[in-house]
Amino acid sequence: MRIIQITDLHIGKEGEDTYFVDVRENFRRILLETKSLNPDYLVISGDLCYHQGEKEVYDWIRPQVESLGFPYEVMAGNHDHSQTLAHAFGRQAEYSPDGLYYARQWQGQAVLFMDSAPHQVFEPQLEWLKSHLQQSSGNLILFIHHPPTLVGTPFMDLSHALKNRDPLLEILSAYPYSISIFCGHYHIERTVHWRNLSIHLTPSCFFQIDSYSEEFLVDHYQIALREIHVEEGRLSSRVKYFPGALLG
Ligand SMILES: [Fe+2]
Repeated sequence: MRIIQITDLHIGKEGEDTYFVDVRENFRRILLETKSLNPDYLVISGDLCYHQGEKEVYDWIRPQVESLGFPYEVMAGNHDHSQTLAHAFGRQAEYSPDGLYYARQWQGQAVLFMDSAPHQVFEPQLEWLKSHLQQSSGNLILFIHHPPTLVGTPFMDLSHALKNRDPLLEILSAYPYSISIFCGHYHIERTVHWRNLSIHLTPSCFFQIDSYSEEFLVDHYQIALREIHVEEGRLSSRVKYFPGALLG
């Protein structure tokens, strides 16, 4: 099974200035590459919008994703509005007032999707996760916009980390099998290992953030997707970069 993850599209409203980056062209490039890689599934792991959730942005994205013909999942990031996103993508059944979160079985592999849009995971979602894990066995895949740990990138760790990491980590690390977690949000490529968790951060389709600075600093404008392979219980992933499009 092959899954493509794309994240942090940050698409503005028509004509909106998005940091001199042609985010709509970046999205087209990523989709073109996704099409050529022909995955079994596609995951868009949050921050589809530039500042805040906009129905017109979701309505612009949806037909382009669906024209690829792959099954796909779409999740909320902190620059999204979970309910608007759920409605725009026809995911009302998975939406509850505490967020857009749910589980899938893909070719026998359990895959969970969580909602960290408010920079935290609310209690009902933590309870759902806990009871889901109590009834599960075997290695899991989890997609969540925010990484559940600090990752060693000062600017993002200091200013934009998930707020309630501890209760989430307590639940995840109590699971007696490994969990491969795929995130976005940080605009970097990194993998962090902690106990039974492998946490993979996937670069953005907007720009990447410097990993060393405590201040906001753009590292580079290449964009990327992550390709995840699961075969006979073995999971591997790799990140593929492309030139990003700048305006002017
Ligand atoms: Fe984000």
